[in-house]
Amino acid sequence: MKFFLDSAHVHEIEHALTMWDIDGVTTNPRHVQASGKPFLTVIQEIGALFAGTEKTVSIEVNPHHTKAEAMVAEALTLAALSPNFVIKLPATEAGFKAVALLRAQGVRSNLTLVFSAAQALQAMRMGAFYVSPFIGWKESNGEEIVSMIEEIVAIRDNYDFSTEVLIAAVRNGRQIVEAAVAGADIVTAGFAVFQEAFDHPYTGVGLARFQSFWDQTPYK
Ligand code: E4P
Repeated sequence: MKFFLDSAHVHEIEHALTMWDIDGVTTNPRHVQASGKPFLTVIQEIGALFAGTEKTVSIEVNPHHTKAEAMVAEALTLAALSPNFVIKLPATEAGFKAVALLRAQGVRSNLTLVFSAAQALQAMRMGAFYVSPFIGWKESNGEEIVSMIEEIVAIRDNYDFSTEVLIAAVRNGRQIVEAAVAGADIVTAGFAVFQEAFDHPYTGVGLARFQSFWDQTPYK
């Protein structure tokens, strides 16, 4: 399973690459705003970190676009900036059409703001490279998430779509595991979510306990 970091903070991405060997990055307008840098500046800084690799960086088009043609025009400009860029488009009627138009031109897309298996299916039919169901938002809304992930993976496999299932808005280690068990290809989560998921309080407690015994024991 692939792990993507959901962030536009360059220092977080550098740490996640060096220490966790993450497989890619996803960004969104919230992350870009939080970086404190202009959109084009920060996406190019992130793109440079992945130059020469096969890893992808998902970049979102202006969310104000309502027409597929406007999405496509911006997507082509962004995709030309880095071979690592995959273009995030919303799961709207115009977004689905833009996926097909971009695929015809060899540009990879990531369908974002997906909340149902039906939306995911349409994204796959139109040729999305990634489809991103937002499970954290659904769970906050009181909705069950595991069956939706299983359905999306089953649909992809039933029809042999090439789309990768990228589980997004992941809030904790339990959700990472649920996505993995359900057969998702990728999870994307924030820096703190991975940090917490890779840790367990008993690991630190146990280490301190073993250090104490170690210190009371001669080495030779
Ligand atoms: C995924 O690609 C999105 O960037 C992300 O997971 C959205 O969720 P969040 O901003 O609520 O964490």
